[in-house]
Amino acid sequence: MEIPFLSIKSINEKYENSLKATFQDFLNSGNYILGESVKSFETNFAKYCEAKYCVGVANGLDALVLILNSFNFPKDAEIIVPANTYFASILAIKIAGLQPILVDPNLNDYLINCENTKKAINKNTAAILAVNLYGRMCDFRKITDICQENNLKLIVDAAQSHGAEFENSKDCFGADAIAYSFYPTKNLGALSDAGAVITNNEAIATNVKRNRNYGSELKYQFDSLGTNSRLSELQAAFLDIKLKHLDLEIRRRREIAGRYLSEIKNKKLILPPSDKTNQDAWHLFVVRTDKRDSFKKFLSDKQIGFDIHYPIPPHKQKALAEFEKLELPITETIHQTILSLPLNSTLKEEEVDYIIKSLNSY
Ligand SMILES: Cc1ncc(COP(=O)(O)O)c(C=O)c1O
Repeated sequence: MEIPFLSIKSINEKYENSLKATFQDFLNSGNYILGESVKSFETNFAKYCEAKYCVGVANGLDALVLILNSFNFPKDAEIIVPANTYFASILAIKIAGLQPILVDPNLNDYLINCENTKKAINKNTAAILAVNLYGRMCDFRKITDICQENNLKLIVDAAQSHGAEFENSKDCFGADAIAYSFYPTKNLGALSDAGAVITNNEAIATNVKRNRNYGSELKYQFDSLGTNSRLSELQAAFLDIKLKHLDLEIRRRREIAGRYLSEIKNKKLILPPSDKTNQDAWHLFVVRTDKRDSFKKFLSDKQIGFDIHYPIPPHKQKALAEFEKLELPITETIHQTILSLPLNSTLKEEEVDYIIKSLNSY
């Protein structure tokens, strides 16, 4: 049996008729930029996220940059960020002219470590950028306490955690602003680049809305130096269709993850954590093994697709040579030992059976 890691085409196949009809409506509308579809998706996604405001933008990276810019932090202010995140979280901080402070994460859940975060705080710290990596929310009860005690802003990179909940809350315990990506592989994926900013803060929403459109609220009037990062009208219409099915998508992901967690029994593999307070959206199912090369070969022989999120940590990337000498042992262990197994709503039960059986025989 051959199982791809992920087929985006198969994921979108079930929406084919609605997507085609939506494209026809879009074409007929003649209104291709910031029209009714962007407004409708913004309303619906804000409601889904249990937040007051959603502002659609061009991608997840821009969502982070626009959020960071909206605070007017002093130049070179420090932003604490987990060192094992996807490159874009750190790139956003650099683009905003701020200083990323990389902290080693927890080894058990790959999320920001609160003790390391506390140690990294000083008079220049302006915010914590928490990343809900792999679909799991950070411990926002502890993180919001740290932010309140130290008067820091809380920004969340939720590019991988659409639909996740922490203690039944989708709004990351009232974070100042949350950045989403709708890159096609995400749990809620567009058919091109797309992103959004979620916030309960009217001033942030207004600022991001103006700055995604060159800094203009009124036609031909520019009040700030913004950028062009408008959410595509067509992608917003596609996202609105897929949003209606997001809970079903996540329910299926949870079912598969539940089976992996209870049925994969192999001492060579460390499975991800799971608990009731943290309702993971299971964007990725990441296991850890000391002998990753031999595990990769085993999976290839079994024709089970896999990926690694991510093989090189940000501080070892050429583009971030300034961080090369940082000592981040947990981050390095994670990057050397993790591997993502197939997990998405198109997996059939017999494919899940085959993956579990194969892994138990490894
Ligand atoms: C954690 C994280 N942050 C930021 C991004 C950037 O999103 P985008 O690719 O839409 O710019 C991504 C996704 O690719 C991501 O996974």
